[in-house]
Amino acid sequence: MVTQPIHMACFFRRRIASKLSRCLGLPEDTFISALCAIPVSKKQQSPDFRLSVKALLSKGILPDNGDLEAQTKTLANQLQQDDVVEEIFAGRGVIHFRVSRIQLVQKVLEQSRKERDKFGMKSELLKGLKKGTTVVEFSSPNIAKKFHAGHLRSTIIGNFIANLKGSLGNNVIRMNYLGDWGMQFGIYSNTRACVLQVYVQVNREAENDEAVEQAGREFFRQLEQHEQHAMALWRQFREITVSEYRKVYKRLGVHFDVYSGESFHQKQAQEVVLRLQTQGLLKTTEKGTGVVDLSPSGDMSNYSTLLRSDGTSLYITRDLAAAINRKEIHNFDEMIYVTDKSQGNHFQQLFQILLAMGHLWAERCQHVPFGLVQGMKTRLGEVVFLEDVLDEAQARMLRNMSQAKTTKEMDDPEDTAEKVGISALIIQDFKGPLVSDYKFDWDRILQAQGDTGVFLQYTHARLCSLIRLHGEEDTVNPSLLLDQRSVLIMQHLLRYDEVLYQSACDLQPKHLVNFLMTLSHLAASAHRHLPVKGSPQAVAQARLQLFSCVCTVLANGMRILGITPVEKM
Ligand code: ARG
Repeated sequence: MVTQPIHMACFFRRRIASKLSRCLGLPEDTFISALCAIPVSKKQQSPDFRLSVKALLSKGILPDNGDLEAQTKTLANQLQQDDVVEEIFAGRGVIHFRVSRIQLVQKVLEQSRKERDKFGMKSELLKGLKKGTTVVEFSSPNIAKKFHAGHLRSTIIGNFIANLKGSLGNNVIRMNYLGDWGMQFGIYSNTRACVLQVYVQVNREAENDEAVEQAGREFFRQLEQHEQHAMALWRQFREITVSEYRKVYKRLGVHFDVYSGESFHQKQAQEVVLRLQTQGLLKTTEKGTGVVDLSPSGDMSNYSTLLRSDGTSLYITRDLAAAINRKEIHNFDEMIYVTDKSQGNHFQQLFQILLAMGHLWAERCQHVPFGLVQGMKTRLGEVVFLEDVLDEAQARMLRNMSQAKTTKEMDDPEDTAEKVGISALIIQDFKGPLVSDYKFDWDRILQAQGDTGVFLQYTHARLCSLIRLHGEEDTVNPSLLLDQRSVLIMQHLLRYDEVLYQSACDLQPKHLVNFLMTLSHLAASAHRHLPVKGSPQAVAQARLQLFSCVCTVLANGMRILGITPVEKM
């Protein structure tokens, strides 16, 4: 006998696939990926799974006789119902399956009780994803330059990708690649003042004053020559900035395994240049710069500059060296870079040059681009430091919370406000496709209702307090959870592995965000209509079990997104 898969959705999928397999004489696995759990709808009770016959035909798995509707009907009629798959019927090019409500409730609750923070992770679907070592390079701010909203986006998106990959069983290396080498140091050294206070001022001066700009260039030249005085100053700036950033990352709940940076790869950049020369890939132009021609026909319609005429390296030169070095050190299976979309071309060129050099692993390097955030301001004006944004989120949240009555019971309202404020930032940022631009609006993101991080946290906290108040039982009678609201929640939870799968494939958090939002709305409605207090003991216990399950999945999902779930608010 084949052992039954433990994962709930897999159990049902297998069950359906085995029917198809028997009927069509093809292996079960053929059908697993063609079956998907159906998103719940508020209007009607929908069936649980759907098989796309159309997809099977277009993939050539089934012979196409030209009449999709008839073919779908015939197949649906051939499949036998049983006590698990209770209903099978044809739709437009799809077959619908409804599974036993009792079994559904039982399987979902059982899984949540057994797996807790690993809920859903044992799914066959997720096990089928490629595992290995993943380098995620993210955040990567520039030392001695202004922080911008893009760095916050990179930080939270990269953290999400690292969390997701990690929870799926990859060995993840979280890397911060600091922009710690370049002209900006030259500009700062001339002011001889604390770097953190002169960030903005000096940039403005350099924009208008040729002399400051020139002095900066000269200082960077000294740096590239490793002159002692210049190096000492540079080291000081780097240390101050990194320690400031560490504090902010801690507030965000983000950590890095490696702090690297452009400065680490100067020597190696020269080696890369030499290597490109011997490979005949580097050309010297009339102006004396070193370039690689990337155009298909060799007419320089697409090229990349790797050396300035004074022999200094560029951003891309250091990136080439860094990538090769990371492959040597970490032997990664894949590498993911998270930056704003304006760097798309840079990364295309980077991967192209690596491939031209014979580094075939560049095929498994990927750039995850994101769009611009407009209008991220604080009450003090323009955002200069990452910290400003976090302070503002916390202050505003604290003010909103002080108007609610529950705040008094909180042990540490500041801490809660910070966590909830950060959730608001993250959810707002993750709702749409990452590559889209969006307008930032404090009032909207901090609303307690609607699809916000605040609502998510609020739902979670309410469920937590319910469980705190009543405790929960180990086993319950599933037949007490056959009402419409409970079943909708169970159906929705069936989709969890598919949602994670989608996010793992395209690295977009929106699938998981939408899933958690719907779960919160379903739970909020259930919480209103399915009272625990005052219900007969057995019913109360069953409902508590349901809420506890939702609470667990909400918390797990939030953690993957990089949100710390709060238990009181
Ligand atoms: N420091 C860069 C910036 O702020 C981002 C670095 C991205 N990573 C890379 N390997 N180039 O624009």
